[in-house]
Amino acid sequence: MTITRVFSYLFVGLICITTMADAADFKPLPGQTSVKVCADAFNLPYSNKALEGFDNKIATIVGEELGLPVEYYWFPQRIGFSRNTIKKVDPQTGKFLCDVAMSIPAERGMYLPTTPYFSSIDSMVYRKGEGYELTEISDIAKLHAQGKKLKIGLFDRAIATETLIKDGLEDHIQYFQMMPGDARINSGRIITEELASGRIDVAFAWGPVAGFYASQSDVAMTVVPLNEIGSDYVFSFGMGVRPQDAEWQSLLNQILEKRKDDIATIIAQYNMPSLANVKHTEKTKRAVYTIENGKVDNKTFVGWRLFNSTCFVCHGQNATGTDIAPNLLTSLEGMSEFKFRKKVLHRYFAKVNLDDPDRRLAFLSQVAGEQGVTKFKMPTWSDDPNIRPHISDLYAYLKARSDGALGEGRPEQIEK
Ligand code: HEC
Repeated sequence: MTITRVFSYLFVGLICITTMADAADFKPLPGQTSVKVCADAFNLPYSNKALEGFDNKIATIVGEELGLPVEYYWFPQRIGFSRNTIKKVDPQTGKFLCDVAMSIPAERGMYLPTTPYFSSIDSMVYRKGEGYELTEISDIAKLHAQGKKLKIGLFDRAIATETLIKDGLEDHIQYFQMMPGDARINSGRIITEELASGRIDVAFAWGPVAGFYASQSDVAMTVVPLNEIGSDYVFSFGMGVRPQDAEWQSLLNQILEKRKDDIATIIAQYNMPSLANVKHTEKTKRAVYTIENGKVDNKTFVGWRLFNSTCFVCHGQNATGTDIAPNLLTSLEGMSEFKFRKKVLHRYFAKVNLDDPDRRLAFLSQVAGEQGVTKFKMPTWSDDPNIRPHISDLYAYLKARSDGALGEGRPEQIEK
């Protein structure tokens, strides 16, 4: 913190000198002797130790522009990544272990994101030459109806899952673990091993993974972007820095802008599926919540009720946080509904699994009361029948609170 403050302070002075000398010449931040990248050593197409990933190549560009060497701090890019890398200080040197993470969601979250440098969408991959063609998810069900029963492989959080289950294909799905214990194994194996060997016939994977591993496989593959799920499912990624490092972010943005053509050329070498035919989905303009004369719509009311039957035991009655769980009013600032959904349903792993509301409440109160700050975990709500269908109601209530549109306590409902 102190170091950063000194950096930022000096940087203000330096900017003027830089501007006077040569506007196009990027200077490192004061005290910066290398570009320290936090990255995963086994995570192609993004990065690996042999520096073959596109993130490695983009980091090299940053180094070139600043006239600095690029150094890596390797850590598996999964839960705990930022805590163990960009946010961790090396006790030996008193400096952060690394200063920039790559391929970070362009939406502000744990990091301050730069301008994105790629966007992608979930995709479907299958072997060429099998005598069938798949252009969208529903084609799998059509083939099944004709007796051609394809074996489907996906990661348990794939966007296609719900559609496949609706299409009656549940029994033909094999679920793979996104993050197996061994950090050297990454999601590409669903293509290079399972699909190539014929153990499955169609795989679903995130675009960059699908495109890259399909192109690496000895068995010829077709990659189909899921155009039908629409532009709401196109996600963009850039670099991420610590929230307090705005000057560093701005410097990286200038480099990204200057070298955008080179970066696009790099990305193009990794065979990401095309986004040209993704269906344009109008972002639903429907208001998240409605409040008239201090009264709320039904959705927001249901959200309040649910919050106060379940979530409040840890997050507090008005969502303002307690010793054991964060203030959700601050958390919700800038958190999209999509992200909220992902966090509440899928980000955490502690199970609750109690159907009876009273027993559940008793159980939660007990956990919340017993466990210390360090031990306590946010439960996962993905298979909770009380929460899952109402996730957008919860979002409506919390968003209204977070925006300051709704006060504390039980809200009144707009009469119909
Ligand atoms: C038993 C305690 C407990 C209950 C019940 C609980 N949470 Fe949490 N929640 C936590 C803890 C602890 C965290 C912080 C976890 C972390 O940061 O790793 C958290 C984090 C979150 C976050 C992420 C906040 C952020 O800034 O990223 C959201 C959103 C959230 N909870 C929503 C909910 C909702 C909605 C419910 C009710 C369906 C709920 N929680 C119920 C303990 C709980």
